[in-house]
Amino acid sequence: MNRNIALSMKKTQDPSGSTMKIRVQKKPQRKKGWFISQVVVLMIMCAVAFSSLLDLGKNIPQKQHAEKKGLREHNDSSVGKCTLEGSMDPPAESIVIDFTKINNIDKDPLERVKDYTTEKYTKHLLKSAGFEHYAFLNYISATYGDCRHFMDIGTRFVTSALALGSSKKSPVWTFDIPESRERMKAFRHKTEEEWHKQIREVGVDIVFHNLDLIKISDVELKKFLGTWFVMLDTFHYPYTRPFEREFFQRILEIGFKGILVLDDIYFNDEMKKWWKELQDNAEESGYMTYDVTEIGHNTGTGVVDFSGKVTIKE
Ligand SMILES: C[S@@+](CC[C@H](N)C(=O)[O-])C[C@H]1O[C@@H](n2cnc3c(N)ncnc32)[C@H](O)[C@@H]1O
Repeated sequence: MNRNIALSMKKTQDPSGSTMKIRVQKKPQRKKGWFISQVVVLMIMCAVAFSSLLDLGKNIPQKQHAEKKGLREHNDSSVGKCTLEGSMDPPAESIVIDFTKINNIDKDPLERVKDYTTEKYTKHLLKSAGFEHYAFLNYISATYGDCRHFMDIGTRFVTSALALGSSKKSPVWTFDIPESRERMKAFRHKTEEEWHKQIREVGVDIVFHNLDLIKISDVELKKFLGTWFVMLDTFHYPYTRPFEREFFQRILEIGFKGILVLDDIYFNDEMKKWWKELQDNAEESGYMTYDVTEIGHNTGTGVVDFSGKVTIKE
């Protein structure tokens, strides 16, 4: 007999009641091995479906958190998408510049990036708040950084860009004049590609821009200023070579609504005069100014708050 066919016999009564008929039906019979394999396949399918459900469950809170902070899945600005890019609104209702916290900030994040500026600048990067402003920049980045870029104007040896990127949360777009190549000293004999590869491995994302911020179009400038925090540390002769003053005027015209930090506000007479001018015009132009030199750079650090969200906690 074919082993796949089983006979099933069914007794039926003839309607006359006289004859008994026996119907023989052929019934397909599965192989025992086939049945076991079906059970195994079913079990595997259940296990896969169950584990996918578990993964889904695990990812939902992470995804919701990432969406809330606008985080990209990868912190390399060339990859992923930051949904907050373009918004100048600071990331919290109150941006607290907390002097005690800045004075006591953990130095590890700056330690991790210290070999990516020049050897001479390593010691500046690690100096305490009140001597250099890098601890303050690290505090801002660690406390409030989201996926939006920080704008850092005046790259030189990449020190401020490294401090802003050191918390590994936000990409840093750093700007210098078209002809500047000073950053190469920070590469310490590496190529730019090798340097970039290494800082990416440390988790820091820095993009270099060499251009004239006065000459670029409003559309381009709005893209660069489309974030909440800008650090300006450039030529420091705002009246003789008025880049800083012209740039500030463009910021006002574009309607920047974030926070601008100025380094070296007492560096020389021109900077002192400009800081005074900014303070005098604050009310009329709709911003607030704060002197945070005590936890910034000993040559003077000023905050110009266009958002109205800065709180100073001394
Ligand atoms: C004081 S350094 C910046 C230091 C740097 N931020 C740091 O923390 O190490 C000034 C830099 O600003 C750059 N600079 C001067 N004028 C500029 C401009 N108009 N736009 C962008 N960068 C400028 C200079 O080339 C120089 O590298």
